[in-house]
Order: sequence, then structure tokens, then C-alpha cells
Amino acid sequence: MSKDVIIACDFNSKKDLFAFLDQFTEEKPFLKIGMELFYAEGPAIVKEIKARGHKIFLDLKLHDIPNTVKKAMAVLSNLDVDLCNVHAAGTISMMEAALEGLTRPDGTRPLLIAVTQLTSTSEERMQNDLLINRSLNEVVLHYAANTKIAGLDGVVCSPLEAGTVKEVCGKDFLTITPGVRFADGEAGDQVRITTPAKARELGSDYIVVGRPITQADNPVAAYRRCMNEFLGGETV
Ligand code: C5P
Repeated sequence: MSKDVIIACDFNSKKDLFAFLDQFTEEKPFLKIGMELFYAEGPAIVKEIKARGHKIFLDLKLHDIPNTVKKAMAVLSNLDVDLCNVHAAGTISMMEAALEGLTRPDGTRPLLIAVTQLTSTSEERMQNDLLINRSLNEVVLHYAANTKIAGLDGVVCSPLEAGTVKEVCGKDFLTITPGVRFADGEAGDQVRITTPAKARELGSDYIVVGRPITQADNPVAAYRRCMNEFLGGETV
């Protein structure tokens, strides 16, 4: 898959989601559906969005024993999503089991990525609450390396970490990066942010953008601006 902008659809109902999507009459953006919408509306929401022609990143961040994750992934694979994820903290065996569950009998499967450390986890919390006495950066890179060993396709990380992740895991290892804001936009609760153009420069493969698009006065114009800045004016 080539570089793309993924819109984080953090809506809590189908009605709000479709009111947002109805504004896109020309493009079919790649969408991220999270726990809130999935738990509210169930798997049917995924099928409905697919029927409208969108690619889907189903962001459920699975983390359980390998056998449970394997079986859950087989269910998600049947939903025909394009991208899904697990927590790398579940260990290499859990990630291998996830990959196995996701792979269909014909050998095809959605892309699978892992969350390293959540961006809401500070180094202090990781060390004090989780008793992981290393630097956050070291842990992120170690978890990314584990993800690669397990055979997954990439990780969710900050755009600021994308370069070092690729140094450790190779240039084809995908980096999917939230925390993106326009230069003249509001940061909101995100702390370590970059612009779409900077994310491209730092090597992100996919940027995940929510509020700068979903809360914009003109979401379609904001999406086009984001695509244009991220792809360097190549396709828009
Ligand atoms: O609105 P905003 O652009 O901040 O949305 C970013 C999206 O990416 C949200 O859905 C958020 O949950 C998700 N995310 C994140 N940081 C991570 C992992 C996911 O912001 N480390």
C-alpha cells in the first residue's frame, strides 16, 4: 500500500459518522474506526463502511493470551478490514498468533501493526507503574524490533520516532503516526505533534488525523489540504 492519510473517525454513533462521510462526494478516504464506534454499533458498522467503498483501519488494540487473540483476529479478518492492530506488550508469541489468526485460507490477510507504548504513557509512568526501568525510546525501539521478529507489518508510533524505527526494522517496516496538526491549527491534547509535511519528511507511511479534519469548518477542504501536504502535492 502507498502513503495515505487515515481519518480517525472518533464518533460515538453511526448517525454522526455518516453525516460526516456524506460530505465526501468525490473522495473515499481511508478511515480509522476505534473501540467507541465499534462497541456502540457492532461489526455491522464495518460492513456498512466497506460497502461505501472506504478502506478501514480497525483500531481495537488486542492484548490477551495468544489463543484468544488468534481466534479474535480470525473474526476480524472475515470482516475484510484493511489494517488492524495489537499491543506489542502481548509478547512475540501473541503477535505471531495474531498473524496466524488473521491469515485467511487463501493466504491473504489485512495488514497487522502493533502499538509499542501508548503516547499517553510517560517515561515516568512506564518506570513507576509498569516497573520497566529503561528509557521510553529504548522500549519503543525494542517493541518495534519484536513486532518485526513476529512478522507483523509495522507499528503505530510518533512521527518523531518513525526514522529510528525504520533504522532498526528496515525501510519497508510501516510507521503509522498520529499526533499530526496543521501549522496554524490547535494542538488540543496532543503533545508531541508535527505537520503533515514534516511527518512525510520524517518517513511516516500513514498519518492518522482526527480533529483537524473531523472538527474543521470544511472537513473536505481540510482532508485535501492534509493529503496535499503529506503527499507533497503528488496526487491532489
Ligand atoms: O484528533 P486527533 O488527530 O488527535 O486523533 C488522533 C487519533 O489517533 C485518535 O483516534 C487517537 O486515539 C489515536 N492515537 C493517538 N496516539 C496514539 C495512538 C492512537 O493519538 N499513540
